[in-house]
Formats: sequence, structure tokens, C-alpha cells
Amino acid sequence: MIVLGIESSCDETAAALVRDDGTVLSDVVASQIRLHAPYGGVVPELASRAHLQSIVPVVQQALAALPGGLESVDGIAVTHGPGLSGALLVGIQLAKALAFDTQKPFVGVNHLDGHLLAVYLRRGHGPHPEAPPFPFVALLASGGHTALYRVDAPMDTTLLGQTRDDAAGEAFDKCAKLLGLGYPGGPLVDRLAATGDPHAVPLPMPMAQRSSLEFSFSGLKTAIARSVERDGVPEGQALADLCASFQHVVVETLVRKSLFACEAEGVRHLVLGGGVAANRGLRARAQQLGAAAGVTVHIPEFASCTDNAAMIAYAGACRLLRGERDGLDLQPFTRDPARARGRFRPDGTLNAKRA
Ligand code: KG4
Ligand code: ZN
Repeated sequence: MIVLGIESSCDETAAALVRDDGTVLSDVVASQIRLHAPYGGVVPELASRAHLQSIVPVVQQALAALPGGLESVDGIAVTHGPGLSGALLVGIQLAKALAFDTQKPFVGVNHLDGHLLAVYLRRGHGPHPEAPPFPFVALLASGGHTALYRVDAPMDTTLLGQTRDDAAGEAFDKCAKLLGLGYPGGPLVDRLAATGDPHAVPLPMPMAQRSSLEFSFSGLKTAIARSVERDGVPEGQALADLCASFQHVVVETLVRKSLFACEAEGVRHLVLGGGVAANRGLRARAQQLGAAAGVTVHIPEFASCTDNAAMIAYAGACRLLRGERDGLDLQPFTRDPARARGRFRPDGTLNAKRA
């Protein structure tokens, strides 16, 4: 089965063709980073208009990889949330029109399920890392979400813990903005952190108590803001040191809580997903502490971490293979619907229903 995936939930217009075994046949991403950069964040109205401009050429380019184009596709999958509603509508409407015209099977995909399954994508030739078996624990850390899930099968996920305020990617973006680095902040902080001393600047470790699977990154942002107010924006080595110290605290929090979740769930496989999983510090530390804890850490390729349509096509293929279909009245949604809550309450105590 070959599925066309379409993604337009935020600031990337994307389309991809993916086989149901995860093989990526094409993957086209038109980024709006330069459009939003002057504003230090995504401007929803500009995002919708840019999607409208790019979506048809992006989908055409993705389909060009397949002889027969759209006719040779077995199904159409589109992100229908969470995201910006005006942005989502652009992708949804085109996907519906294509499904209407071709009478191909059509499904909506939750963007977060796309990130959780991105590790199964197979790009290019040559030896691919082993795909994780179910169940696994997944850390999803992106610009809009930071959460831990237990994943028992595609789309069968239980929420274990999440952030109470900022997402990890949002913390990177806000930190970069305070330091005058630009947008999006993650890759910029990542690059500077590589040459800095992670212990140079003492910063608070957020939600440090081991038993809680909740995150909180807003205090860290305040600590950086205070430091800039007090001493101004550092330069040269001092800037690299502050980035390294910030990244160290975020990475330690993410990795330690992820491994605690594996221990609490009795699961030996950890999957990373979302834009922050592209962070080199996070990738290295997760592998290192995972190995020490006897947990195998599975990390998607860089191109599968940040927003793309290949992960949407793959998640769509999983739904289509189960015989699931959506009607052409599919609606966008802006927030993730409440997911079943796992063993832990937000305060770290056991949830009686699942304990
Ligand atoms: O998954 P994604 O592309 O979009 C959302 O669904 O939000 O994630 C984007 C987020 C941004 O906040 C960006 O700063 C962050 O991922 N990010 C990174 C890195 N690359 C992207 N954060 C830390 N290190 C990186 N290398
Ligand atoms: Zn995303």
C-alpha cells in the first residue's frame, strides 16, 4: 500500500508518499521559517496564506516520484489536528478534494500520532536501525507539546505525563529569543551549546522530583530572562556556556523522566519524537543513559523528527490497513483531545484506576 500524506498544521507545508512498511518514496517540505522569523514565532494568518500558495506545488512534487502519480496511490492521509485551524484547513481541503475526485480511501491523522510513529520511517538505502517492538515508551518533545506516552500499538497510546506550561521546543525558542539568536531557537542553541560548558551557569532543574512524570519549563525561561536582565546578553564563549547550561538542564530532565517512565511501565524500549529529538545533546545523552539502564533508545532520522508529511502518511497507512476510513466531512481540531491517563497523576502519585 502506498499512501499520500499531507501536513499543514503549523509552519511547514508538506506532502509525502510512503509505503506501509515505512519506506519513504518522496518527502517534500516547504518551510515558512523565513516568513515568520522577523516575528520570533509563527503568525497564524501568514501561515494559512503561505500554505495556500505552496500546497499544490508541494503535493505535485511529492506525487512526481510515482509513475502514474495520484492514480497509483492507495489512500490519502491528512493531518487534521492539533494545530492552527486556518493552516489545517488548507491541507484538509486539498486532501478531501483529491479523495473526492479519485474515490480513494481517506483518513485524518493526529499530528502527535505521526510524531510517535516517525521512528518507523525508512529513508534512502542501506542498513536501517531496528524498528522498536511494541509496547514502547515515547518522549514527544516539539514546539507545541512535551509529553510521555506508553504506546501499545499504532494510535493505541496512554498519556503518562506532560508539561504543565511551556513545551521543550518552546523553551528553546524563548531562550534563543531572549539571547537574540533568532527563530526557531532549537537548532541555534544546539549549535552554540556544542562548544559551551554545560556546568558554567547554575540553572534550576525543572520538576526535579524523580517520581513525577510531569514537566515544567517556564521557570527555566524566567531564569534566563533574569540573567539577561542582570548581566545583559552574553557574547562569545559566555554565550556558548549559557546555551550549553540551558540545554543541559532541559536534556537531563527529558532523559531522566523518560527512563523513569520506562522503569515504571516495565518497558525496555524508548522512542524519541518531535523537533527537539533532533537535538544532538538529547540524542547522545538518551543513548548513553539508556544503555546504562538497559533500555534501547530508538531515535528517528533528523528529517523524521521535525514536521514532515512522511510520518502522517505512515500513520495514515496504519489506520487504512486496519480498514479505518474518515468521511469527507472531516473537521480540523486545534487541541489534542484528552488522552487516556496512565498510572500516574500529575503530582506523581499512583492513579487508582490503573495502578
Ligand atoms: O515537531 P516540530 O517541527 O513542530 C511542532 O510540531 O512543534 O518541532 C519544532 C520545535 C521548535 O520549537 C524547534 O526549536 C525545536 O523543535 N527544534 C529543536 C532542534 N531542532 C528543532 N530543539 C532543540 N534542538 C534542535 N536541534
Ligand atoms: Zn510537530
